[in-house]
Formats: sequence, structure tokens, C-alpha cells
Amino acid sequence: MKYDTQARIIQLPRFLDRRGNLSVIEEAVHIPFRIKRSYWVYDVPGGETRGGHAYRENEEFIVALSGSFDVVLDDGRERRTWSLNRSYYGLYVPRGYWREMTNFSTNSLALVLASTEYDAGDYIRDYNQFKAL
Ligand code: TYD
Repeated sequence: MKYDTQARIIQLPRFLDRRGNLSVIEEAVHIPFRIKRSYWVYDVPGGETRGGHAYRENEEFIVALSGSFDVVLDDGRERRTWSLNRSYYGLYVPRGYWREMTNFSTNSLALVLASTEYDAGDYIRDYNQFKAL
């Protein structure tokens, strides 16, 4: 099986309208996987970091529905910070990246679409173990 391995920003459709704008995500159309799960992170206190871990299988697409935050991705060789601050694009995170979410603005809302059901066994929470893999 061939996996998508490239972390990248994906622009979403925007329907601009005097009545208010609308954007949309369809699985396997705008993002390269089928959505098994959605969760969101909110009410993050200033200075907190979320999600210091990697997944073996799970792929994600992260959107700042409101406010802003940074996603730091580490592929084991280099770290790159992606700033998310608009609801009409998101970050595709392939499996196997170490990721952290930081710099949450007040009232920010992070939507995460995931390719697998929740499985605690899919997490790699130890950075040295991640590096070894
Ligand atoms: P966790 O993955 O540790 O959050 P973070 O991404 O910031 O490291 O999840 C926090 C808690 O939420 C943990 O007790 C597990 C639970 N949880 C679920 O039950 N289902 C889910 O889909 C997710 C993402 C978390």
C-alpha cells in the first residue's frame, strides 16, 4: 500500500457571500483520507501545549475554525512549525509525524478530522521511541 507522506497546507473551497462565508470538507475529495472521527480542542489556557505524540496509523487534518495556533511537526529529522489562523485551510498530517499544538489564542477552536477510530495503542508518546522508529 502506498501512503501519503507529505505534510502540507490544503486550501478548502470558499463560498464568499454577503450573508456570510462557507467552506466545506468532503472526505477523500478535499482531504486524502476517509473520516472516521472528528474532535475539537477548545478552552486551552494560555501557554499550554497539546498533543505531544505521534500516531502509527492515524492521519489527521487540522483546521483553526476560530482564532489561531501553531502545529509543530517533526518527521524525526527536522521540525517545522505551521501557523493556522483561518477556517478555509488546514494542515494535513500524515501518519508517523511527531506533533505538538502550541500558541493557542484566546477562544481558539481546533477542529481535527481523523482517519481512524480512537485507539490509545496507536499513540507513540515517548519521543525517544518515536525517534527510534
Ligand atoms: P489526548 O490524545 O491525550 O490529547 P492530546 O492530543 O492533546 O495529547 O486526549 C486527551 C483525552 O481525550 C484522553 O483521555 C483520551 C481522550 N480522547 C478520546 O477519548 N477520544 C479521542 O478521539 C481523542 C483524540 C481523545
